[in-house]
Amino acid sequence: MLCTCWLHLLSTLLLVSVALAFEVLVSEENGLKTGVYHSPKFVQGAGSVVDKVYFNIDFPRGHIALKSLNAEVVNEQGIPIPLHETYLHHWLISRYYAPKEDNGDTESKIIRLRNSGVCQNLGQYYGLGSETRRTETYVPDPFGIQVGNPADIPEGYEERWYVNVHAIDTRGAVDSLGCTECRCDLYNITRDAYDRPLRPDYIGGLLCCYDQTQCRIKEGFNSIKRNMYLRYTVKWTDWVDSIVPVKIYILDVTDTGDRTGRMNDSVRLTAEHGCKVEYQVEACGVSSNGCLDNKKTGIVMQKAGYVVYGVAHLHSGGLGSALYGEDGRMICSSIAAYGEGKEAGNEAGYIVGMSTCYPQPGSVKISDGEALVLESNYSSSQRHTGVMGLFYLMIAEQLPNNMLLSVPVKV
Ligand SMILES: *[C@@H]1O[C@H](CO)[C@@H](O)[C@H](O)[C@H]1NC(C)=O
Ligand SMILES: *[C@@H]1O[C@H](CO)[C@@H](O)[C@H](O)[C@H]1NC(C)=O
Ligand SMILES: *[C@@H]1O[C@H](CO)[C@@H](O)[C@H](O)[C@H]1NC(C)=O
Repeated sequence: MLCTCWLHLLSTLLLVSVALAFEVLVSEENGLKTGVYHSPKFVQGAGSVVDKVYFNIDFPRGHIALKSLNAEVVNEQGIPIPLHETYLHHWLISRYYAPKEDNGDTESKIIRLRNSGVCQNLGQYYGLGSETRRTETYVPDPFGIQVGNPADIPEGYEERWYVNVHAIDTRGAVDSLGCTECRCDLYNITRDAYDRPLRPDYIGGLLCCYDQTQCRIKEGFNSIKRNMYLRYTVKWTDWVDSIVPVKIYILDVTDTGDRTGRMNDSVRLTAEHGCKVEYQVEACGVSSNGCLDNKKTGIVMQKAGYVVYGVAHLHSGGLGSALYGEDGRMICSSIAAYGEGKEAGNEAGYIVGMSTCYPQPGSVKISDGEALVLESNYSSSQRHTGVMGLFYLMIAEQLPNNMLLSVPVKV
């Protein structure tokens, strides 16, 4: 009897202690709500990769304005894990509509919602990687990302969110950077996740570090499996009509679909837009001075407006990225910050933050149909595989009248 009680008490305590760490915490200050959520658990041993999509995640509901979203990998005790142990290749959060009675999120029944950019394969609303801990995502007042508007949700459906987590455990790795750059030889991969042979010149990138692949670790390294979570923190307010909606655009420096510009929507939707998402930086020759890889592409913005926020997403080796207007003016430049220590948020050798742009509202305008130039710079003192050059923009198509008047006139 006593024994059973003890066991029961013990198991209750265990359940409670696990549940407590991952309770959803919501607080509010002056109408700004903050929610702290956790993804489902994922298990990682040394060298292992998880690339998972979790549907119908905990997320604020209702007609709201999203104000910021950030995330990081934590362990079971809620302790942040540094990038040199668990490298967060990326996390993406996207929205979709699902039939109310369908709890399984059946792929064929859901309606995915995308950001407003042209790259069909970059559907997310939010997505960052190693830089997530020190990159500002705040949407300044009076702007907000409008979601959960009942007028937009089809009858019988509800709005839900999914998260994609791609994390690489590099404890004990023979070549940590190589594992984070998904070098195919380190993963012993010659065929992709669908068992299709890779092109001979494909030596690294997402095709070689899909879910459950394994990067090479040092012989004899004692790999202990760990339970990990993506902890994401969302800030939002209830929607009110004085909030000015912003649209999210994600641009890609590998986008070759619209070089000549002026691609109309009917062509855009049928053509495969050339967003390759990743590319390769070759090592500079001994003779070259300044080992810098400068990649540029032209991107036409069909419908544009006022820039409210801008930031780039780069991988290790990345220096900075900039977006220029058709007339050559700088729209936003976003520079990589590298860590200098060991602790989470300051890991040496990793990009731990990207600088952001918050132009004075109304001061930076992109015209409808304007041909922009996106540039991304990497150090080429060594070869890098699977690098990215994405650019996130938040754009307000309209400004409140009082704001238009308050823009200072340059003399
Ligand atoms: C690499 O993969 C091949 C099969 O694709 C296998 O025969 C070989 O043993 C693997 N090598 C290592 C080191 O795991
Ligand atoms: C879009 O462009 C294509 C090719 O340039 C053209 O054939 C088509 O008529 C255009 N469609 C519209 C709606 O303008
Ligand atoms: C990228 O490098 C070029 C030199 O090739 C430089 O002119 C430009 O300012 C750099 N851009 C950024 C955003 O650092």
